[in-house]
Amino acid sequence: MNTLKSINEEILSCQKCGLYKTRTHAVPGDGNMNADIMFVGEAPGKAEDIQGKPFVGAAGKFLDELLAEIDLKRSDIFITNIVKCRPPNNRDPQDNEISVCWPYLEEQVKLIKPKLIITLGRYAMNRFLPDLKISQVHGQAKRYKGVGGGIQVYFPMYHPAVALYNGSYREILKADMRKIPKLLSMIQSA
Ligand code: URA
Repeated sequence: MNTLKSINEEILSCQKCGLYKTRTHAVPGDGNMNADIMFVGEAPGKAEDIQGKPFVGAAGKFLDELLAEIDLKRSDIFITNIVKCRPPNNRDPQDNEISVCWPYLEEQVKLIKPKLIITLGRYAMNRFLPDLKISQVHGQAKRYKGVGGGIQVYFPMYHPAVALYNGSYREILKADMRKIPKLLSMIQSA
């Protein structure tokens, strides 16, 4: 039987794709193991690769601002990525990297059993919700197949890094974030 600790250990020594050759640290994920909300990003960047923790660079600082909009702290949520090692020069993750890394995320979801999965960016969204366009569905709750059977509620958001390049996304991300408390209480009382 897997535990989060055993999954973390597997991730830290994983060599299932070529990314292990260029990583400093794999980044399994961090936060509250009993969280109702799991955030799933794309892949570690430079700061995350160095520190071995998710969202500790510039995008992570803005994510903290977004969390503060609804009085959430890192210790209230669990946060991870679809790919656990940094792609060189922050290039997009490749299909084979996403698919060999997927079982780790599946196990994390099965163990943490979040009530709501918030995907950050199109790569994370499309791994759970294929064929959707983020510009059309961000900020909308989607009920879809969960890992391990059943139905899971997903909430796609833009990746916080987009707001670093284009300030007009800041308010869009904040407005989407502000929908989460009501959504979560609806799920909790259903
Ligand atoms: N971007 C991500 O998608 N994940 C991180 O952990 C950091 C930046």
